Formats: sequence, C-alpha cells, structure tokens
Amino acid sequence: MTMKGLVLSGGAGTRLRPLTHTQAKQLIPVANKPVLFYGLEQLANAGIRDVGIVVGDTALEIEAAVGDGSRWGMRATYIPQEAPLGLAHAVKIARDFVGDDPFVVYLGDNILRDGVREVAEGFAENDARAQILLARVPHPERFGVAELDPNEPDRIVRLVEKPSEPRSDLALVGVYLFDRSIFEAIETIRPSGRGELEITDAIQALIDRGDRVDSRLVRGWWKDTGKPEDLLEANRVVLDGFERRIDGSIDHDSSVEGVVVLESGASIESCVVRGPVVIGAGARLSHARVGPYASIAADVVVENAHIEHSILLRGAQVRGLQGRVVDSLIGRHTRVSGNRDQAGAHRHGAQVASDGESVRAQPRHHLVVGDSCTIGIGE
Ligand code: TTP
Repeated sequence: MTMKGLVLSGGAGTRLRPLTHTQAKQLIPVANKPVLFYGLEQLANAGIRDVGIVVGDTALEIEAAVGDGSRWGMRATYIPQEAPLGLAHAVKIARDFVGDDPFVVYLGDNILRDGVREVAEGFAENDARAQILLARVPHPERFGVAELDPNEPDRIVRLVEKPSEPRSDLALVGVYLFDRSIFEAIETIRPSGRGELEITDAIQALIDRGDRVDSRLVRGWWKDTGKPEDLLEANRVVLDGFERRIDGSIDHDSSVEGVVVLESGASIESCVVRGPVVIGAGARLSHARVGPYASIAADVVVENAHIEHSILLRGAQVRGLQGRVVDSLIGRHTRVSGNRDQAGAHRHGAQVASDGESVRAQPRHHLVVGDSCTIGIGE
C-alpha cells in the first residue's frame, strides 16, 4: 500500500495579521523559502508521490505557488475547505482523495528538521491505527499534550488540548500518520468549544474504542510558524543550517563575514554583513549593516539602515533609519523610511566596525508590517 500525504494549508492565520490579510501564512518565507515548501520537501523525501493540499480562502495563491507538485516529483491534488472548521474537518473532507491508503497529515505552517521518512516507514510496519509525532517542550500548557502508557511508553493513552495542568511535557507536533480508521473516529466527534472539529478529539476517540495509537519523539527541532516570534525563531534555526555561497556582487568597501548566501544579481555596497544571512536575487544593500539572522528576499532595498534577526519580504524597502530594525517582519513592497542621511550612515558604519557597544545603545524598531504599506519613522 502506498502512503499519501495530506498538507493542511487552509486556516485563517489570524495570529499573523497583518501579513495574512494579503498572503497565505504558509507562503511566508523562512530563509527565503515559503514555509509550505519545507513540508512538501519532507513528504517528497519520505517517498510520497501523491499529496493532497487542503486549501481555504487563499487557494489560488497556494495553487499558483505549488502548481502540479512536479517540482517535488509529486502529484498535487487540491481539496477546498469551505471554512476553517478544524483540523479534523480538513482530514474528513480528504476522504475521497485518501481512499484506503495510509497517510501523513502535515500542518502547512510547520517545519521539522528531521522530516518524516523514518516515521512513515515505521508506521507501515506496525499495527497502530495512528502514529503521532511528539516533541518535549518547556511550556506544554500551550500545546496539545500526550500522556503515554506507563507500561508501553510508545503508546498514547490520552490527549489533552492546552491542559492547565499538563501530565507530561510531550507536545503534539504538526505531523500525524493515520489509516482510514480516523475517518470513522471523526464521524463520532462534535465541534469543540471554539467551534472546530479537533484532531485531538478524533485521535482520543480512536484510543477510547481500543485502537492502538503510537507516538514518536522527533529528534531535530520542530517549529510551528503560526505567530511572528515563531517565524523569526524558525528563520534563525533554518539559517543556522546554511552554508556560505556568494553569487552576487560585493564591493571593496564592504565587510561580509560568516555564513552569507548572496544570490546572483544581488549587490552589497559599503555594508557590514554578518551571517547567518540570506539575500535574494536582485536585492540591493548599500551603506547598511545586515545580520545576524536576517532573511532579505528578492528585490529588497536596504539603504542606510541596520537590520538584524528579521525577515524582509519581496520588494520591501528600508531606508535611512538611525536605529536598529530587530525582530521584524516587513511585508512585500512595503516602504519604511527614516531621516538618516548618507553621511550619518558612513559614521555609523565606522562605529559598527570598531565599537559594537555604541550600536547596542541605539533605538530599536520592532516592526510587524503587512504588504504594500508606507511607514515614515521620525527619530
Ligand atoms: P492553525 O494554526 O491551528 O489555525 P489557523 O491557520 O486558523 O491560524 P490562527 O489560529 O492564527 O487563525 O492551523 C494549522 C494549519 O492547519 C495551518 O497551516 C492552517 C491549517 N488549517 C486548515 O487547513 N484547516 C482548518 O480548518 C484549520 C483550523 C487549519
């Protein structure tokens, strides 16, 4: 039996507004690649050739980005969900696509370092009806939490959504393996207090009827990118895995150190760049300080500014800012400008190179801005 993939890419994305007013949250780039593509790659690496993608309001945009799936050697089938009625609802509407095959459900806004290959292989070999990926987390009360059988520690006996007193620190990661029994379980559950068909309730229903539900601990990191700070954290860990590659141009007045990926057609002029940093094709950086942990998308302009631990989306422009832009997400084609001139930039550049302390004393700008905005900052 071949395993299928089911990627959940609908949802409302309210926690990532304003960016999600104009863009699907699964297409926001982490290290210059849409979050969703990480999941599709993982499924392809696990040998999955048939992937269903549940889509909502942003269906057209997701379809335009993913296409027929052939880029990953897969065939993509789009499954429209009329409204974000819950993860179990998204699974329920995929019944025809899934048929009788086992399948991996992957939340389209999650990134896992180690992927799903091993788990998918393991699932095919045992008699569990479901296998749930878990990760140890410092604040389990914020997640769905699993309680394991003390006699059979692989086996899950209870799942609780955001428990006030968690019985373990094992959170549900956004990856689940099911066989078709899950569809019967979903038929038995009712919408929760927040009006959604919860996948945790459906899995609990499997357990309650005596089916075996196994767990697997993920080894590498796992990131849910549902909130700005999570996206920035995912950006940090993904950039940490990069290797230096310079295809664009760097002038003699610049200092570019550490793991920097500079795509062809991108240029750096009179800048201090400290990796890890990725800079997309056609981006122009001048008289700026960039990094560490900055993802600069294609066609971005940064002039007389200092960007650190931030994500700038395609075509964004940041100019003439005295302080540091930190922990920020700046939407596509948004313009942020201050009143710092180029002379100031030169002084600033020299200061940066010789004296890290003076940089730290500068004001910080923490911006989470949607697409196509214009922002003036007076300093
Ligand atoms: P969530 O992050 O739980 O939900 P959301 O996208 O509605 O976000 P927010 O809470 O900020 O409003 O969803 C996890 C993933 O599953 C995400 O990729 C969206 C997808 N999803 C669906 O496809 N259908 C659904 O009904 C729900 C709730 C989520």
